[in-house]
Amino acid sequence: MAGKADEVTTGQKPEGTGRKPEGRGLPLDTSVPHIARVYDYWLGGKDNFAADRAVAEQVVATFPDVLVIARAQRAFLGRAVHYLATDAGIRQFLDVGTGLPAANNTHEVAQRAAPTARVVYVDNDPIVLTHARALLASRPEGATAYIDADARDTDTILAEAGKLLDFSQPVAVMLLGVLHCIPDEDGPAAIVARLLDAVPPGSYMAIVHPASDVATDKMEQAMGDYNKQAGSALTARSHAEVSRFFDGLDLVEPGVVQIHRWRPGTDGVGQGRELAAYGGLGRKP
Ligand SMILES: C[S@@+](CC[C@H](N)C(=O)[O-])C[C@H]1O[C@@H](n2cnc3c(N)ncnc32)[C@H](O)[C@@H]1O
Repeated sequence: MAGKADEVTTGQKPEGTGRKPEGRGLPLDTSVPHIARVYDYWLGGKDNFAADRAVAEQVVATFPDVLVIARAQRAFLGRAVHYLATDAGIRQFLDVGTGLPAANNTHEVAQRAAPTARVVYVDNDPIVLTHARALLASRPEGATAYIDADARDTDTILAEAGKLLDFSQPVAVMLLGVLHCIPDEDGPAAIVARLLDAVPPGSYMAIVHPASDVATDKMEQAMGDYNKQAGSALTARSHAEVSRFFDGLDLVEPGVVQIHRWRPGTDGVGQGRELAAYGGLGRKP
């Protein structure tokens, strides 16, 4: 079903429309694990159910590094958004596959550096939708919006996001930990291409994606266990496959690398280890 921008906050209306968001994406079935809630559990969050916790623990048992990867992914988000808001001067963000609110959400990192930043969040998980208000707590100078939609529904995403973002100005498209939720047959590269077609030169795209060619055996087993139980299957991809999503973009140094090696900061998450997740940032020429 088509999604819809549920609430838009601006400096004038920090609490949004006051309307209680209603689910228009996936139905809520707490008996089936969903990646938003499983990832929340790995990050130490409370917004998960018994089925999410069971599969999350099973994955940790075969692949303990998943706990480091989840934290390294949030750290990557922080560094990439800070880079975009400072060095790259980006003031508009389209964050697809937002996840449950955690420390340092995209608008918090962006608006800390650039208070006027505008951020549109997109997710298809009904529990993420119920937490949308936390994602909408914009600084008064900036603005945020939440769209309850599937990443595959790019027409809806772009139409709704266009109510807050000015697509004649550069936008950072954030696809962190979401493209692996799109199987090859659903055309993840075409989704990327449609989103990038909509934004002007000088825009950026950031990706984090689980690796199929690092810790291969454990990753295969862990993903197989997850996929047997979850409603929708995950796909890990190789360095070459993840790099292809950036075709036509100029990669920001150091290119597509394991997430903790991308412009490492002082957080030190994962230092000295091989982590099965790639991250990168590209600029549309
Ligand atoms: C692993 S979390 C990543 C959260 C955040 N981007 C981060 O990096 O910390 C993946 C998120 O993508 C969302 N997601 C998965 N498949 C999706 C789809 N087809 N359309 C929209 N969102 C999706 C999930 O609901 C979840 O919130």
